[in-house]
Amino acid sequence: MAKTDDAFSHSEYWDEHFSKTDGEAPTHEWLCSYGDLEGFFQKVLFEGPGCRPDDNPLILHLGSGDSVIPAELDSRGYSRQLCVDFSPKAIEIMTERYKSRPGIKWEQMDVRDMAGIADKSVGVAFDKSTLDAMIHGNPWSPPRDVRENTGRYLREVHRVLEDGGVFLCVTFRQRHFMTPLLNPDGLWDLDFEVLGGKVGSFDYYGWVLRKASCQK
Ligand SMILES: C[S@@+](CC[C@H](N)C(=O)[O-])C[C@H]1O[C@@H](n2cnc3c(N)ncnc32)[C@H](O)[C@@H]1O
Repeated sequence: MAKTDDAFSHSEYWDEHFSKTDGEAPTHEWLCSYGDLEGFFQKVLFEGPGCRPDDNPLILHLGSGDSVIPAELDSRGYSRQLCVDFSPKAIEIMTERYKSRPGIKWEQMDVRDMAGIADKSVGVAFDKSTLDAMIHGNPWSPPRDVRENTGRYLREVHRVLEDGGVFLCVTFRQRHFMTPLLNPDGLWDLDFEVLGGKVGSFDYYGWVLRKASCQK
C-alpha cells in the first residue's frame, strides 16, 4: 500500500506490516515496552480496585497488533483477555504464536464497531498507540474523518466498558491535542500522567479514563 498521510488508519497498511513477521518474534512493540509500563500498570492495574488478577477482569486489548503485553499480563495472572485488531494478518499470527495460552483470545474486529462485544462486559480496556494510528493531519484542527473515527471508537469503548471499568490509553501525542479527541461527548472523567523520560527517549502519556460519574 502506498504510504499516504492517513495510511496507519487502514487495515491494508497493517496487513502488509505484519506480513513481514518471521512467525515468532514481534515485528515491533510500539511506543514502549511492557517494562516501561510496569510502574503505570502497578498503580492502575495490579493495585487498582476491580483490576487485580484476583478480581479476574476481562481485559480488552484494542488494536493489539503483535504486542507482547497480553502475554506478559497472562504470565502475571490475568486469564481473561480478548485482543482485537482489524488486521487479519495480525490475528492469524498471534492466534498461532500464543496457542499455548488459553486465557488470551484473538479476534479480528474494527474498534469503531465492536458489535461482537456485549455492553458493559469489559473491566479494563487497553490501547497503546491505536488511537494514535487513527490520527493524521493538522493536530490543532484534526480533519473530519479523524474526529469521526476517534469519536466512534471512544463511544464503542464506553459502551463495552463496565460502569466501574477503566480505559487505559498510552499515546505519544500531547495532552492538549488528545483531550478534545478523547472526550468530545463529555462521556469520561480523565486522568493523565507523563510516562517515559529516560535519557534519549521522548515522553509519552498514560491516560486513565473512567465513565463520568462512575469513579470508584
Ligand atoms: C501502532 S500499532 C500498535 C500495536 C500494539 N498496540 C502495540 O503497542 O505494539 C496500531 C495497531 O492498531 C491496529 N488498528 C488501527 N486501527 C484500528 C481499527 N480501527 N480497529 C482495529 N485495529 C486497528 C493496527 O492494525 C495495529 O495493529
